[in-house]
Amino acid sequence: MSGAPYDPAAFRNFEHEGWERLSHGYHRHWEALTTQAVPRLLASADVAKGMHVLDVACGPGYASGAAAAWGATTVGIDFSDNMVALAKTNFSELDFQTADAEELPFPDGNFDVVLINFGVLHFPDPDTALAEAYRVLKLGGRLAFTNWARSEESAITIAMKAIADKGSLEVGLPTGTPLYRFADHDECKAVLGGIGFTNTTCADLTFTWRLPRPDMLMETFQQATARMSGLLGAQDPEVLPDISAAMAEGCAPYDQGSITILPMPAVLTVGTKG
Ligand SMILES: C[S@@+](CC[C@H](N)C(=O)[O-])C[C@H]1O[C@@H](n2cnc3c(N)ncnc32)[C@H](O)[C@@H]1O
Repeated sequence: MSGAPYDPAAFRNFEHEGWERLSHGYHRHWEALTTQAVPRLLASADVAKGMHVLDVACGPGYASGAAAAWGATTVGIDFSDNMVALAKTNFSELDFQTADAEELPFPDGNFDVVLINFGVLHFPDPDTALAEAYRVLKLGGRLAFTNWARSEESAITIAMKAIADKGSLEVGLPTGTPLYRFADHDECKAVLGGIGFTNTTCADLTFTWRLPRPDMLMETFQQATARMSGLLGAQDPEVLPDISAAMAEGCAPYDQGSITILPMPAVLTVGTKG
């Protein structure tokens, strides 16, 4: 289930370069999408006033900002200096640090809650990162994380199909853990159970990605996400207009005239330490 063997160091470098380059584009295009998951993430982990909360792969700081608004004391970490700088700009009163999810710079049993909003699939070794979350949690503390789910209707599927049809998915980019590994409830429960988490639950959720026009999908992927931007950047430039047109065609059924609303299904997983 963890997929074919791959080179974690090459994947980490690829992701790191992408997120450093795309931090502002991500904030511009994805804030309205990934923040939809944050209230469910916080509620599922029972975040409450006075709790000590760690936001892993914090990006622009959305989960930290919300947890602090709920009265928690927060620390956000991300391996991209540019993301950390952006988070500090967005939430200047909060604590953000550059650190790797697989090597958290905190002592054992330090946090009541660990949150990872759409970060796990980007880690070269997600199992190690989830074990690190377990280590830094207090006994009885909760881990909550989200991942995109596979669906014919998802914007990710529309984009991947367009690339497969008009370009190529095999362009030699470093690969990581399979895209939808942590959308599989059984896999999430098996991985968390193996680490020592108990009472693991998974919930299917659907968020929506709102584009001003159906032909905006390719541009937003190019400007905002490490894997998709890398995949599009590796295509023959001559086929890019065809890929863009195919993406727009895939989005057309979701166009409502003044806005295009694409479904983005996800899975929320929660586990308890001990
Ligand atoms: C899809 S973004 C999610 C950002 C944010 N949590 C949100 O809610 O939108 C993924 C983030 O994971 C970070 N990231 C990827 N690999 C990481 C690692 N090994 N350690 C820490 N952060 C990492 C990236 O820099 C990026 O900010």
